[in-house]
Amino acid sequence: MTAVVDIQQVKKHYKMGEETFEALRGVDVTIERGEMVALMGPSGSGKTTLMQIIGLLDRPSTGRYLLNGEDVTRLTENQRSAFRNQHIGFVFQAFYLLSRMNVLENVEVPLTYAGVGTRERREVAMSLLEKVGLADKWRNLPSQLSGGQKQRVAIARALTTRPSLLLADEPTGALDTRTGEEVMNLFEALNQEGVTVVVVTHEAEVAARTRRIIRIRDGNIERSNP
Ligand SMILES: Nc1ncnc2c1ncn2[C@@H]1O[C@H](COP(=O)(O)OP(=O)(O)O)[C@@H](O)[C@H]1O
Ligand SMILES: [Mg+2]
Repeated sequence: MTAVVDIQQVKKHYKMGEETFEALRGVDVTIERGEMVALMGPSGSGKTTLMQIIGLLDRPSTGRYLLNGEDVTRLTENQRSAFRNQHIGFVFQAFYLLSRMNVLENVEVPLTYAGVGTRERREVAMSLLEKVGLADKWRNLPSQLSGGQKQRVAIARALTTRPSLLLADEPTGALDTRTGEEVMNLFEALNQEGVTVVVVTHEAEVAARTRRIIRIRDGNIERSNP
């Protein structure tokens, strides 16, 4: 079967004036459909860089990347963003909710971009809010939510486009342990429904909830089990 993510010998250089910094130094990663994977490593090891490449927010300097079997390094900017909207959902540590919009409107944002009509937007967004246990908060502004609730809104928003791949960059980093566990429960439930999940984390407790840990250090994959 085709892997969701098939990355081979990916390098990423950042130009800093005269200097180039090699954030990824020849990374190989394969993630199969239906997996739930933790990506772990010290600060500055390249986790976010790799997630941004996996999520088509950035492109490798060199190397190969097949996403759902398609060579995405060849796509134009527009094709990449279309591919991203179609296949990928993102969750970030800082939530990135729009402060002047209520919960429902925040969840609707990707659907608005996708040109979905008002009524369908409402329906999809409300059903996702039910799924993350926040239907009763739909009118609240983000400032009227706890951290865990904000992250659940962000997860609902990430699910609107029915992504096959959910990428979360330190999603529990701003949450206390118990709230972080609730967020991981939600990822686990989504994974059981067939969504492939990649979670970046520092925390061993979070990583322990996944079946596989990929470790990165200084831009190299250290160890990948199995
Ligand atoms: N846009 C950038 N320009 C220059 N250097 C960067 C840029 N983004 C990241 N880096 C560097 O690349 C390395 C890896 O960063 P990052 O992927 O954010 O690490 P992590 O998420 O594991 O903490 C760090 O040394 C960081 O300073
Ligand atoms: Mg990071």
